[in-house]
Amino acid sequence: MVYELKNPLTKTLITYLRDQKTGAVGFRHTIAELTKQLVYEALKDFPLVKKEITTWQGEGAFNALDEKEIIVVTVLRAGMPMLESAMELLPGAVAGFLAMKRDETTHKSVLYYDRLPDCKGKTVLLVDPMLATGGSMKDAIALIKSRAPKKIIALNIIGSPEGVKAVESAHEDVDIYISQIDEKLSDDKFILPGLGDAGDRSYNTL
Ligand code: PRP
Repeated sequence: MVYELKNPLTKTLITYLRDQKTGAVGFRHTIAELTKQLVYEALKDFPLVKKEITTWQGEGAFNALDEKEIIVVTVLRAGMPMLESAMELLPGAVAGFLAMKRDETTHKSVLYYDRLPDCKGKTVLLVDPMLATGGSMKDAIALIKSRAPKKIIALNIIGSPEGVKAVESAHEDVDIYISQIDEKLSDDKFILPGLGDAGDRSYNTL
């Protein structure tokens, strides 16, 4: 299932990201805000448990997400602001890290770091702002699937229709929540109109 956010605030934030005047701090901040929108949507059917707390009227059990059942996995480096934002909303969740670099000649992703926690039976929120060819996302999902999670949900800020379709066809069981599906993939595999390279924009390595 692919779910694209449609609200006007999302569109406004995406335009801010596209704007070349937006510096690294503003870029990361906006990625973080969009991530929170995605997390709200992605967890809308997540079961609630009763949490024992002390309220102003004494002890009681109240609804809460069972955060330890959730793992947030980021794809470095552009996914870092998304991970930080998701973990602010879910402070009890567990974080996992994958580092992938897209080879700009072959356009294939290369895994160079894997620090996934135990994923068995957990819900994994996989965060990466960009879905261009979809290759990195497909490979990351395949790797996480090999660790037997209960469910994988992909959270992306921007994608090409081609990339979204590639991930959807390769992994039909994975839900994709995305802020914006853009017009197309360019011949040199960039999202158009896109944002530029989210990693470079976030960390001043343009
Ligand atoms: C970008 C992005 C994705 C990937 C998307 O990372 O963050 O991981 O490219 O491209 P794909 O869908 O064609 O695989 P990049 O390789 O630029 O690394 P970075 O995060 O370090 O900038």
